[in-house]
Amino acid sequence: MNNFQYYNPVRIVFGEDQIKQLSDLVPTDARVLITYGGGSAQRTGTLDEVKDALSANGDRKVFEFGGIEANPEFTTLLKAADMVNEHKIDFLLAVGGGSVIDGSKFVALVSSLTEEDGAVSREQAWDALTSGCKNIDSAIDLGTVLTIPATGSEMNSGGVINYSERQAKLPFGSALTYPKFSILDPTKTLTLPERQVMNGVADAFVHVIEQYLTYPVNAKVQDAFAESLLKILIDEGLVVKNDPDNLETRKNLMWTATMALNGLIGTGVPQDWTTHMIGHELTSLHAIDHARTLTIVLPSVMRELKDSKKDKLLQYARNVWNITADDNGTEQDDDAVIEKAISYTENFFRELGLPVSLEDVDLDESAIDPIIKQLDAHKMIKLGEHGNNDLDVSRRILERAVSSNA
Ligand code: NZQ
Ligand code: ZN
Repeated sequence: MNNFQYYNPVRIVFGEDQIKQLSDLVPTDARVLITYGGGSAQRTGTLDEVKDALSANGDRKVFEFGGIEANPEFTTLLKAADMVNEHKIDFLLAVGGGSVIDGSKFVALVSSLTEEDGAVSREQAWDALTSGCKNIDSAIDLGTVLTIPATGSEMNSGGVINYSERQAKLPFGSALTYPKFSILDPTKTLTLPERQVMNGVADAFVHVIEQYLTYPVNAKVQDAFAESLLKILIDEGLVVKNDPDNLETRKNLMWTATMALNGLIGTGVPQDWTTHMIGHELTSLHAIDHARTLTIVLPSVMRELKDSKKDKLLQYARNVWNITADDNGTEQDDDAVIEKAISYTENFFRELGLPVSLEDVDLDESAIDPIIKQLDAHKMIKLGEHGNNDLDVSRRILERAVSSNA
């Protein structure tokens, strides 16, 4: 196991009917900006519940900013940042999924980057984003009410922002943007459309994989924990597909998705975010849902990198999919075991109704060149646990992803 420091200050408030805890969690004299997405928080009544809780005690001034898009837009977020300054907001309360939470983290960081006229500077905010927001030294406090289990943003310090005009979807991270708290009420996920539920299962699955499927460093806690999370996602993913009202399953999915990307399984181990980085380009060029880009790319990452990931792929096959012998009980060679694990993974995604190739989303090989160009422009040229995945490797991954092997 490699050396590490683990720090995660996020208070998790989990369970049914817990939104009322906001009255204790948000400072009583705060000037609060509630941020939310395209309308689900209003339609489902969550927004009203949040406002009721905030007015239950104290003397908070509450403002609202709605309309943060799925794949949150840079320009929209600058408007929210201007509103922060205009109303002297000192607490952001994000009500939604990864997009609203990520967007609010970005607002928390960039609202201090103002021009002489007081408006938030587009250029400074863009520079901040392109350098991962590493140089910003203050942020507004933030809390979250999570409505979709998927990204883990509720318990980590990162985010991903889309800037359509520049065809860029870029990650950032800052220790200043760990939420002060996140409320996880699993009943809030019952209103999600099936597509979003399945996206969430797949996103969490790939988060675990990208912190696990590298090379062994004898990190027994992280490996066993990761394998358990994967098995839970496989089991509960299929249950929720057939029985969407099963609240016990919703509870387990919500906590699993949080644990998948709160830093715990990624401490002290190598990581490989190749699938995510290629996936971000697919979203920015073709507006494909984040999780769907991942299910398209991951099987090809596994196949293309199967030699450098051989030990972990065999461990994955054995411990997650129980593959050791063929159906007749005969020992199989390593390549056969690995291919079986990859096709089981593809079948799992298919069972959730997710695409596993570019063809599945009506793209063909002509999509590859523009993606490679964007990876180059965004300096995604040394991906992977060894930094060996250059543009040639990414191209081969995408070529494999054109049609499915399954
Ligand atoms: O916008 P509204 O109307 O609220 O609708 C949303 C949106 O259309 C809807 N929704 C959310 N909760 C709902 C609901 N509909 C009904 N009932 C509810 N309870 O779901 C749609 C998707 O929401 P979104 O927030 O976009 O989904 P998700 O949580 O999957 O977030 C995706 C974003 O997170 C980023 C992705 O790149 C993408 O931009 N990621 C963030 C990460 C992080 N911060 O650590 C890591 C991830 O890898 C990911 O990259
Ligand atoms: Zn993701």
